[in-house]
Amino acid sequence: TDKYCVIGNPIAQSRSPEIHAVFAAQTGQDISYERCLAPIDGFADTIRQLVAAGYKGSNVTVPFKLEAARIATRLTERARAAGAVNTLAYRDGEIVGDNTDGAGLVADIVRNAGVALAGKRVLMLGAGGAARGVMLPILAEGPRALVVANRTRATADELVAQFASLAGGCSLSACNFEDIAAPFDVVINATSASLGGTIPPIPAVTFCQDTLAFDMMYAKNPTVFMEFAAAHGATTRDGLGMLVEQAAEAFTVWRGVRPETQQLLKDMRSKL
Ligand code: ATR
Repeated sequence: TDKYCVIGNPIAQSRSPEIHAVFAAQTGQDISYERCLAPIDGFADTIRQLVAAGYKGSNVTVPFKLEAARIATRLTERARAAGAVNTLAYRDGEIVGDNTDGAGLVADIVRNAGVALAGKRVLMLGAGGAARGVMLPILAEGPRALVVANRTRATADELVAQFASLAGGCSLSACNFEDIAAPFDVVINATSASLGGTIPPIPAVTFCQDTLAFDMMYAKNPTVFMEFAAAHGATTRDGLGMLVEQAAEAFTVWRGVRPETQQLLKDMRSKL
């Protein structure tokens, strides 16, 4: 039995153990996966203990994703671009840091929602860690334009500058919320505003009948962002699929087999 865990503080709320248990059963992989509460000032020590105990990998959640990127002895390209790590693999004496959040987001939008990003106009709301974490995989899909809108304009400018060399043929730019003047094909809410039950002050013209409005948050009921987007004609989607898909990507990184996600996503939705 190969051992894995999810590390955070707090950690009791994590859905990852149930998700990976389903993946393991479905693919016949002999693994264990548990929750691991690391002290706020004890993340590095916790990793050392896990490696010494023969663990094969960990997921990393709040508040350790940045520290995990510093501790890793090697980073994947997408983890380096994200500046954060949500998946660690302990192999061959190395601590490999990866980030599967962007791949999870893209898989949920493209495969599960059936909305291609190639050639589309995409709007990112927010320019913090959640936004940065998914920029590279979105750009890799080849959108026509990617606009980053943020409350603090300077943060959006910095994010755009950081990814300018990775944009390829995509028009990458920053703006203020009030600058938005035409509908986007895909709008991704990567602000933490939904947590507080508020939405970024974006105009109704952001959305049209053809817009997919995606919120990285999820809850039993639609978020205020989803309700606003739906009221202006958009199709909406919350972050539950992204959660399941980032886990599937981590499982694939560790085990080399890709689990099915559709039934699990349905089951988790019905139990929210
Ligand atoms: P996370 O890791 O969740 O991205 P973060 O790095 O602190 O957390 O970033 C939070 C993001 O949500 C930022 O883009 C922030 O905007 P600012 O850069 O202006 O702070 C955005 N945000 C948080 N609360 C918001 C609100 N009430 N309205 C609009 N944007 C908000």
